[in-house]
Amino acid sequence: MRVALVIGSHRKDSQSAKVGRFLQEQIQALGDHECWTCDLGKDPLPLWDEEIGSGAPHWHALDAINKNLGHTDALIVVAPEWHGMVPAALKNFFLVCGAGGTLAHKPALAVGVSAGPGGSYPINELRTSSYKNNRLCYLPEHLIVRNCMVVMNESETENDTQEHSYVSERSAYCVRQLLAYGVALAQVRASGAADLDTYPNGM
Ligand SMILES: Cc1cc2nc3c(=O)[nH]c(=O)nc-3n(C[C@H](O)[C@H](O)[C@H](O)COP(=O)(O)O)c2cc1C
Repeated sequence: MRVALVIGSHRKDSQSAKVGRFLQEQIQALGDHECWTCDLGKDPLPLWDEEIGSGAPHWHALDAINKNLGHTDALIVVAPEWHGMVPAALKNFFLVCGAGGTLAHKPALAVGVSAGPGGSYPINELRTSSYKNNRLCYLPEHLIVRNCMVVMNESETENDTQEHSYVSERSAYCVRQLLAYGVALAQVRASGAADLDTYPNGM
C-alpha cells in the first residue's frame, strides 16, 4: 500500500515531522508499504493565488505533489496545534492540493501534536473543514500526540517510558486501522459510485 504523510508544521525541523517518521516506521514494520512525505515546513507551498493551474512557474512543484497524492492509497495528516488551530500551511495544502480527485475517497488518519496537554483542536478543525471538496475520508479513530518532546524520539533516553509506551501502542493501533481502511476504500473508488464530474464540490 502507498501511504502519504502530510506534515502540517511550518517549522523546518518540527516535532510533527518526528511524529511522521515514527509512524512511517510503524507502517513499514507491518509489511511492504511505500511511504511518501510532504513536509510543508521543509518544502513550503505558495499560498493560493489566481495563477494556480495556469502553468505559472511558482506552481510547478504542485504537479509532482498531486501526482504522488494520486498514487496514494491512504494518508496521514499530522497537524500541530498552533494557537488552538491547524497551521496556515496545512489549510493552504487543502486549498491547493486534491484537484481532480487525487484525495477523493481515500482514508486519512488525523494526528494532532502538542508540546503540552493540547492537540485536540486541530483534530476538530480537520474533521470540520478539510474534506468537503477533496472528499478525503477521516477515520473515526484519530491520534493525539501530547507532550510530544518526550515521546516518539529516536533516542530512547529522550522518551518518558510510560508516555512513549502508551502513545506508540495507540499509534500502532491507528496505523493498522488506516491500512485496513486503505484496502476497503479502494473498493469504493473502484465501484464507480463516486462521480466527481457531475459533483466536483461537496455540499
Ligand atoms: C506559533 C505557535 C503556536 C502554538 N500554539 C500552541 C497551542 O495553541 N497549543 C499547544 O498545545 N501548543 C502550541 N504550540 C506548541 C506546539 O505544541 C509545539 O511547537 C509542538 O512542538 C508542535 O509543533 P511543531 O510540529 O511545529 O514542532 C505552538 C507553537 C507555535 C510555534
